Amino acid sequence: MLTTEEYFKSLLQKDFNRDDILDLSKVNFDPHQFIELINKSEKFEIIHSHDGPISVVLEENEKRIGDFSKMSTDFGKHIDGLYKENPPQFVILYCENEGLGEATTNFYDSKFIASILKACCKADNLIMNYIGRDSKIYPQKFIRQHPITKNDVIMIASRGFIQQDPKSDLSKMANLKELNEVLTLTNAIPPTCSITLKKYDLVLFDNYSFPHSRQSKVTDTKRKLYRIWFNALA
Ligand SMILES: [Fe+2]
Repeated sequence: MLTTEEYFKSLLQKDFNRDDILDLSKVNFDPHQFIELINKSEKFEIIHSHDGPISVVLEENEKRIGDFSKMSTDFGKHIDGLYKENPPQFVILYCENEGLGEATTNFYDSKFIASILKACCKADNLIMNYIGRDSKIYPQKFIRQHPITKNDVIMIASRGFIQQDPKSDLSKMANLKELNEVLTLTNAIPPTCSITLKKYDLVLFDNYSFPHSRQSKVTDTKRKLYRIWFNALA
């Protein structure tokens, strides 16, 4: 098992000029020490979320309206930070407590989904409206380019609506057939990888290339992950 410092040193050796990073490591991880190491480095920058530099992913019994990330046993595929114009490039999820150990984290191949959609549907100009926790609408192009490799990737969210206006009347939409095709295809593609995170597991992944989801039979209030977002500087 790696220490936080050893893990950070391994990142310094790693080539981040690519779009296929999805790695699992065993680390005795201290998120605060990691943030300090990143802040001293010239290779990376931490991206803050609403929670600051470190988020705790913890399911809750109490239902929070509209925020499925806190209580849903099935939190659909999404990329993180869609309320930012440029969502973070990389995500670290670290398992502090595996809880019942039943929840799987699924990863999907965004480039593959984008290529299928482009081949089969008129998906080029669709807008995905993401509804943030603050209930504001954040529009994104549904298919956009990966920030490093410029490959096509999809912008997908659990609270995301692939149409021009999430409040519009679906029955009056001219492109309803294409939208249905896009949604059916997007939902039909299975994960490329599923992980049940155990204590000390740290998964690092490219946020644009690997939309992720969580599935569990039960709400697991003991399962505790830390989440950190960062970018690699050119
Ligand atoms: Fe997420």
